[in-house]
Amino acid sequence: MKITIKRKLKNSLLLLFAVSASALAQPKAVRTHQNFDAGWKFHLGHATDFTRDFNFGIGNNLFAKSGETAGTCIAIDYNDKEWTNVRLPHDWVVGLPFQYVKNDDIDSHGYKPVGRLFPENSIGWYRKTFQVAKADSGKRFEIQFDGIYRDSKIWVNGYYVGGHFSGYNSVSFDITDFIRFDKKNALVVRVDATEFEGWFYEGAGIYRHTWLNSYDNVHFKSEGGLFVHAAVDQKDAQVTVETTFENKGLSAATATVQSYLTDRNGKKIASGKELPVNVALRGEASVKDQITLKNAQLWDLDNPYLYKVVSLLKVNGKTIDSVKTRFGVRTFTFSSEKGFFLNGHPMKVQGVSCHQDHAGVGSALPDELQYYRVRLLKEMGVNAYRTTHNPPTPELLDACDSLGMLVMDETRLLTSGKEYEQQLRDLILRDRNHASIFMWSIGNEEYATQRTDIGKRIAQNQLMVQKSLDPTRESTYAANVGNVFKGVNEVIPIRGFNYNLHALDDYHAAHPEQPVIGTEVASTVTTRSIFVKDTVRAYVPDYDVTYPSWASTAETWWQITQKRPWFMGGFAWTGFDYRGEPTPYRWPNINSHFGIMDMCGFPKTVYYYYQSWWTDKDVLHIAPHWNWAGKEGQPIEVWVNTNAQDVELFLNGKSLGKKDMPRNGHLVWTVKYQPGKLTAVAHKNGRVIKSSVETTEAPARIVLTPSKKMMLANGEDATVVNVSVLDKKGREVPDAANLIRFDLRGDAAIIGVGNGDPSSHEPDQCTDGHWQRSLFGGKAQLIIRAGDKADQLTLTATGSGLEKQDLILKQVAGN
Ligand code: GAL
Repeated sequence: MKITIKRKLKNSLLLLFAVSASALAQPKAVRTHQNFDAGWKFHLGHATDFTRDFNFGIGNNLFAKSGETAGTCIAIDYNDKEWTNVRLPHDWVVGLPFQYVKNDDIDSHGYKPVGRLFPENSIGWYRKTFQVAKADSGKRFEIQFDGIYRDSKIWVNGYYVGGHFSGYNSVSFDITDFIRFDKKNALVVRVDATEFEGWFYEGAGIYRHTWLNSYDNVHFKSEGGLFVHAAVDQKDAQVTVETTFENKGLSAATATVQSYLTDRNGKKIASGKELPVNVALRGEASVKDQITLKNAQLWDLDNPYLYKVVSLLKVNGKTIDSVKTRFGVRTFTFSSEKGFFLNGHPMKVQGVSCHQDHAGVGSALPDELQYYRVRLLKEMGVNAYRTTHNPPTPELLDACDSLGMLVMDETRLLTSGKEYEQQLRDLILRDRNHASIFMWSIGNEEYATQRTDIGKRIAQNQLMVQKSLDPTRESTYAANVGNVFKGVNEVIPIRGFNYNLHALDDYHAAHPEQPVIGTEVASTVTTRSIFVKDTVRAYVPDYDVTYPSWASTAETWWQITQKRPWFMGGFAWTGFDYRGEPTPYRWPNINSHFGIMDMCGFPKTVYYYYQSWWTDKDVLHIAPHWNWAGKEGQPIEVWVNTNAQDVELFLNGKSLGKKDMPRNGHLVWTVKYQPGKLTAVAHKNGRVIKSSVETTEAPARIVLTPSKKMMLANGEDATVVNVSVLDKKGREVPDAANLIRFDLRGDAAIIGVGNGDPSSHEPDQCTDGHWQRSLFGGKAQLIIRAGDKADQLTLTATGSGLEKQDLILKQVAGN
């Protein structure tokens, strides 16, 4: 492979010391975890011109003398009044205009002017001031970033606290020494997005949550301080709780640790032992306990039952730290003969790979949107999510834990230098308690490395790192090499096939002991609501027919999968369209067409193929729509996707024939177009189900459909509002392209708009104070983020010649 349009160069350690508990400053409250997303100021800097980069690195003693910041914007009292107010998560790239540049990096990142060619758009400065009460001065303080894209440098009160290279891993820094109590503190971050890490849209900025954590000098370690896992034996589970502590105080400490389990309602159901722990000064100690959980309820896809473990660290009987962690009890079995089993039940992996951006907001998604997307996938029948090609935000994993979705969690690069080994460590330590994660992925399609001896050694190193931190799971690697058993494939416990499914049988015959999964399959390209190829607008028909040379239709991979019990199933590329990788065309196409749903999560035709065979729902879907004015008498290819046994198609009441439905297939009729109504009548298990598409009149009124009508006034909650138009008779107009304007009154904000058109150059963000978007294929979407006050919100949508629509939303106090 691959396309020319993308570049893919491309217990326990018990140290006994004298103890003086009284030497520890006693905190007023145990651990706090404070959201730090509000109240930031933002300004672009410059990657090559220091005069436009707040004198960064010149004419000052930034890295020469401790705490010196003269002449830079890092200084505590720097006047940032003119900077833009932002609330995290924030992605500054989504607001930049699209720009054609003949360059593979720019193309693969979706024609946004960021990166080495655009020094003026590639550095972002963030400032936030905050107060800490003197009463808390005995505690430790830590700043936690869940994702900054990328190469960030962080200062507190002019003191450099550290840098973070990865655009995808979480990081935290102890900032205790630099705090000014009862005074203004300034946190400053310089973000450098000059270099890319991927070959897809990545955005830029502090695009995930930020937290201020505080805890006692003796505390559960931030990275991996608690590891909980369970083994099930008949009905009971043995829950292992491994805790690790560190001591940042001024003397050694003796404490005790005890954990207890609660059910999903918070009721205490089992307790562990109270165990002694001695933590040397500036040292670490680990303690392991086992707790029996009687009649354990298993976590599964339909009932994702989550328990909690609560661990308490005490000195002289007083709790000085506590952590609460959700976990699930479940078993994963990977058989080279029988495929994958969840809790002993055979199950095909009906997976999708996804990048992290969404319409309107780029990479900066409110948490609600993570849940929204996972719910959409579940409705389609998806049971597994691959986080391509990088560590996800923790909220995505929370959504998968809560809603019942398996996750393959992937690190960014397959390599084992200090930086990238640490990235894998950080990923595993952060994510290993998530019930949903069934497998780690140590990398994807490393062309230069995957077949080599170096690749094998790197993989062995990463696998050892993984096993040392999480012996409860296995890893795979996404290899696009077909029947090749060299390099990484020689040592990987679960062979991952990216495409090349023609080589599956030979590979399995040669290596019958190695379980095989389709780490990446399909890559079918379709444009929602467009049924005719259009090389000018760069659209591909919304039927399961178009795919690049290395890929296949949805039907092809799923039929191959169904016929092979040993093949675990796989991850279709991709669940949703994403920015970048315009394929098969380039400009004016700015986002991929690989999604089974578009950028907004609106389903394409292929969605109904998967839903037919991945769920028990009654699916009966006709494509295309039936608005073909000017094509009267011409043949139109009509696809029916269903899981019924047979289908009869009628045009304006006249039968066009009845057909038996092939399992894991679809049906096609060629129909001479006449306006009216096309109806499918199907039999499913002795029942009749019907579905129609109908020729509509012109759009007459706007309809606004929110994902929820009530939000919490916490500044973070969000609702997704889908927009469509109806004709006079109340029928949705599937090819409408009206421009719709939005106005929101009340204490909340629109944060992005989209319509799923892969060639739309309309802004996703507000321009000149106005929010607007054209419908594409009759649909658009906007995302509203809650404000901080209880309020009634009114969203008004208007469009020329259309009856306007008011949507009333409630915003209620709460967290
Ligand atoms: C794969 C690659 C993905 C994406 C996809 C497009 O080879 O792993 O990131 O580029 O091709 O088909």
